Amino acid sequence: MNDWMGEDESQEIHKGLEGIYFTESKICKVDGQGGRLYYRGYPIEALALKSSFEEVCYLLLYGKLPNKPELNNFISGMKGERSLPKEVINLIKETSGRAHAMDIARTAISILPAYDKNAYDASEEANMGKAVKLISKLASIVAAIGSSSRGRYTAPDNSLSHAENFLYMLTGKKPDKEKARLLDTMLILHAEHSSNASTFSSLVTGSTLADLYASVTAGMATLKGPLHGGADEAALKMMKEIGEPENTERYINEALNGKARIMGFGHRVYKTYDPRAKIIKAELELLQNDASKEVSNLTRIALTAEQLMVEKLGKTKGIWPNIDFFAGPVYTWIGIAPELFTPLFAASRVPGWCAHIIEYWRSNRLLRPLERYTGQVDLEYIEIEDRE
Ligand code: ACO
Repeated sequence: MNDWMGEDESQEIHKGLEGIYFTESKICKVDGQGGRLYYRGYPIEALALKSSFEEVCYLLLYGKLPNKPELNNFISGMKGERSLPKEVINLIKETSGRAHAMDIARTAISILPAYDKNAYDASEEANMGKAVKLISKLASIVAAIGSSSRGRYTAPDNSLSHAENFLYMLTGKKPDKEKARLLDTMLILHAEHSSNASTFSSLVTGSTLADLYASVTAGMATLKGPLHGGADEAALKMMKEIGEPENTERYINEALNGKARIMGFGHRVYKTYDPRAKIIKAELELLQNDASKEVSNLTRIALTAEQLMVEKLGKTKGIWPNIDFFAGPVYTWIGIAPELFTPLFAASRVPGWCAHIIEYWRSNRLLRPLERYTGQVDLEYIEIEDRE
């Protein structure tokens, strides 16, 4: 037997593909040093303040802000795709509570080609149509998973905006305007973020020329992990464990002394404050004195933990809050249960995934990196009877 010696010995390994550029894109700029984020050139702060999720979806997919007729037409298209096939509603009813909501949402998305006559049409026009379907239906799927705990599916209401309709389908009640506005902002903030793990994963699948549904399903599978989209649920769990604001300092110190990671902090690209976290923090500060003790406690815990972490890790090691840290208390105020956080993240990110996959297909190249083999070669095959 021999160890493998070959040309790959001399190649540098980029663990986690850190620092590797694999394509060009015009969709999103993440400035990790300056703490700035742009969708198609527009600063995230302006979009969060002035735009709507529907408009941001158009911007990401088509590369420009729509004029009024274009936006109205796009919104009508989205509304036309809100309803779910009865088999998907049944799948959700049958499986709710038996698996994580993210697993149910991913499975529901992966069966949608059965209800789309253009599912395997690879033209860009057909893919734009599929993107609209995916954006609308994933929100309905997540709302249906949430409402199944009430035992009832609520059909969509096309007089409502995307965010309002999500809350309506979730709760069965006409939504509070302020909660729908904040949800719309959260959807915008999560809509896109360059070549993050789930977008990359969806591109790997898309690069094999698998269809858009398969590629988005791959993105959803990747988003689930606590190092990525699952961090908001994990961060809220920690805040609930802390329980009371005065316990925060002790909890954070013990966690850091025990070398634990605080979910919702740190980022592969941002080495400064995540601009999306700043926007959510400003919203959260308004909830400190909320009438609900749960919301005001969670808010105070989040704000105290953030101050401590900024002092201990931000200024020294460049580990700052990311988008996921403040999301939990905000979603709790809106009335969204923790198990829906990650599927809701997926429902926000689906325009970003679709925009990237469609852009990549214009000059597709199979994504296939290399690994350095450190095992042996030319081993002698031993018959099973002769093995120890
Ligand atoms: N809490 C405490 N320490 C941390 C944290 C954290 N959240 N994140 C990183 N560190 C420390 C590491 O322990 C390491 O310390 P060391 O150098 O003493 O060993 C150092 O910071 C660098 O950490 P890496 O893991 O090398 O950083 P990387 O860029 O690979 O990781 C990641 C980024 C995965 C996001 C990481 O910061 C983390 O695990 N954060 C918690 C999970 C999270 O919030 N994920 C959401 C990211 S945003 C999103 O996906 C939407």
